[in-house]
Amino acid sequence: KIPEILLNSGHKMPVIGFGCAANSIPPLDEMISILLKAMEIGYRHFDTASLYGSEEALGKAVAKALEIGLIKNRDELFITSKLWITHTHPDLVLPALKQTLKTMGLEYLDLYLIHWPLRIKEGADPVKLEEGDALPFDMIVNQVEMNVNWQQRKLVPFCKAKGIHVCAWSPLGASGTIWGSNAVLENQVLKDIAASRNKTIAQVALRWIYEKGVTLIVKSFNEERMKQNLQIFYWELSKEEKDQILCIPQHRGPVGRGDLFIVKNGPIKSVEELWDGDI
Ligand code: A2P
Repeated sequence: KIPEILLNSGHKMPVIGFGCAANSIPPLDEMISILLKAMEIGYRHFDTASLYGSEEALGKAVAKALEIGLIKNRDELFITSKLWITHTHPDLVLPALKQTLKTMGLEYLDLYLIHWPLRIKEGADPVKLEEGDALPFDMIVNQVEMNVNWQQRKLVPFCKAKGIHVCAWSPLGASGTIWGSNAVLENQVLKDIAASRNKTIAQVALRWIYEKGVTLIVKSFNEERMKQNLQIFYWELSKEEKDQILCIPQHRGPVGRGDLFIVKNGPIKSVEELWDGDI
């Protein structure tokens, strides 16, 4: 069983989540099979978004899992979806959530995230939500890009001090996707550690996040890699290995920078401003 952490809401969340975003989501039946395979392997936490085009498949996979007895109750699963930036206006939040629940055929989500802290109207420039106020509401989970190449050295302790749980997206650098790169899986420090420990590079990358007390969303639609990505328990990185990882030069991934939200004459003038200088 995958370990769980306790959120400040009192709910528990499995430390590894299954990412349901891809360059292109496979056809419905194939995607449902992938998700059922993931549940069979042991994944209990699934992360989708209205943007990803996988909400319907995930909802149908949950129904099928209940039908065939793979799980007995809905509450054995932790399901996350996200509000897209076209619907972050207060009047549009509830309708968007209702639409997500309808698409998924679910009565509730375990976590509903604001996909980006921005709002956009078609044809208009993006607006940063609650400009200048870093914490406009009681935050439970802050899901951010985090991996050995972007270690979130300021944000993780900041959130910890506030009781906010940090969850990492792109823990493997989203290699092979249009928004990621192979920079994590090709990292020489990780390669050397993996070789000396008889682990894969992915396992070292994921274990490093886990040891930071951060949960992670990892995506693989391949059965062998799905299994591999759960094998990060019962071993640990040494102090020397962690020191080597600390020396890796830092940069955000291409889409994680949010350059697409910097619009001429728009309210957000630079990526530095978008990230309050943490870039
Ligand atoms: P695939 O689905 O073919 O396994 P991230 O979780 O950082 O978003 O990265 C996801 C990308 O990394 C996907 O392209 C996925 O491809 C690939 N991937 C996932 N797990 C592994 C692994 N254990 N080894 C190598 N590549 C992996």
